[in-house]
Amino acid sequence: MSAKQFPAPVFNDSELIKNGAYIGGEWLETTGEYFEVHNPASGEVIAKLPEQTDEEIDRAIDAAYETFKTYKNTSPRDRAKWLRNMYNLMMDNLDDLAKIIAWENGKAMSDAIGEIKYAASYFEWYAEEAPRLYGATIQPSNPTNRVITLRQPVGVCGIICPWNFPSAMITRKAAAALATGCTVVIKPDSATPLSALALAHLSEKAGFPKGSWNIIMSHKNTPKLGLRLCESPKVKKITFTGSTYVGKILMQQSSSTLKKLSMELGGNAPLIVFNDADLDKAVEQAIASKFRGLGQTCVCCNRLYVHSSIIDEFADRIAKEVEKFSIGYGLDPKNTHGCLINAKAVAKVELHKNDAIEKGAKVVVAGGLLPDLGPNFYSPVVLSHVPHNALVAKEETFGPLCPIFSFDTLEEVVALANDSEFGLASYVFSKNIDTIYTVAEALESGIVSANTGLFSDCSIPFGGVKESGFGREGSLYGIEDYTVIKTINIGALPPRI
Ligand code: SIN
Repeated sequence: MSAKQFPAPVFNDSELIKNGAYIGGEWLETTGEYFEVHNPASGEVIAKLPEQTDEEIDRAIDAAYETFKTYKNTSPRDRAKWLRNMYNLMMDNLDDLAKIIAWENGKAMSDAIGEIKYAASYFEWYAEEAPRLYGATIQPSNPTNRVITLRQPVGVCGIICPWNFPSAMITRKAAAALATGCTVVIKPDSATPLSALALAHLSEKAGFPKGSWNIIMSHKNTPKLGLRLCESPKVKKITFTGSTYVGKILMQQSSSTLKKLSMELGGNAPLIVFNDADLDKAVEQAIASKFRGLGQTCVCCNRLYVHSSIIDEFADRIAKEVEKFSIGYGLDPKNTHGCLINAKAVAKVELHKNDAIEKGAKVVVAGGLLPDLGPNFYSPVVLSHVPHNALVAKEETFGPLCPIFSFDTLEEVVALANDSEFGLASYVFSKNIDTIYTVAEALESGIVSANTGLFSDCSIPFGGVKESGFGREGSLYGIEDYTVIKTINIGALPPRI
């Protein structure tokens, strides 16, 4: 990949940049095979990191397994303190951590700063949840028995993360796991591992016991690493954010040991604008949803359904906003948006754009490749009157293509929105509470966001239905996914007095 050269970031604390795996509280720099991490803006190599061997993967699992024996019995107050320390450390290092994200992922600094605040908030949230794991007392049929339940940590958790949120997808899982008393083996995506290593460095400072956090890496051997985690009887849970395709493979591989699973998979989010919506708000929020991370989030709206009476005005207003974007190097704070992650991502946007135009979509903003900046830079495209048989109606673009479809009735748009195997997020814009509530109930998705395009927050239950996966992260429910219920039945008690 050849591209323009961009300056490397300058860090306040260079200790945050690590070049090895983190296993059992030790940094491990191997002399064996390694893979390269590239700055997606320039293509230049920014790190060389080890391809973990089978022996190293097992060492990380063993470290987590042995540590679990004592970590599970630590006081919830201690775990809360370590989690809170992590929150504070992340906020103290906000600028550096955001620069790492912008450097390895390509997103703009404003998005990266938002991600670090979001990522850190999971530590704050789960610091507060750690002492609040409750069980139940149950009245059994037999009056001489007493039944109580405990929520116990499931054990070692294998955490497999994507590149689009190099920090937040780790913290959302790890904070909940560590709060309950689980230990973790984290596998970041090979495109963006530096954020994970920086978090491990901070975890040492936060006071977590050695072996409770482990980070292992791989690029070409990723399928083998995943298999080893899934098949290990010492790993009790796999939690994954990524594609539905890979999620299904991990589920199959985990079946031999019947692991607990959480799967946060692909989406194809519809955003519906009724003709009684506040149009200023709908335009502003549609932009916020569609172009967060340049369209590379699982909850970015992928299909915009706008009532036929306002579609042209809506499309023109979207175009005006998009034309204000400044696309460029993520680390340059003047840019509102950075670049895409790689050539495959660029090709998918091109494919969906060309397909929709060939099938009759109207071009509102042509956008397209920005070769003067580099091969991964792409200027947003806005299309309207997109035909319902376009590829983008069925598949997630995961990029800066804003396709606007027309609809006439509530029933019609609900059917169109639900005509997808995915069901992660949906959006609805209307001033009529009846419309909002009726549509929200009918949409087949884990999350429905009304009159706002941004809902992500540590307090909300995040997760999908259908082929978008299962399990909920964040919120009061997120911690449950890392626990198992133990039933204690005490029998043959004397009659009550
Ligand atoms: C994702 O893209 O998977 C996560 C998005 C979010 O947490 O807002």
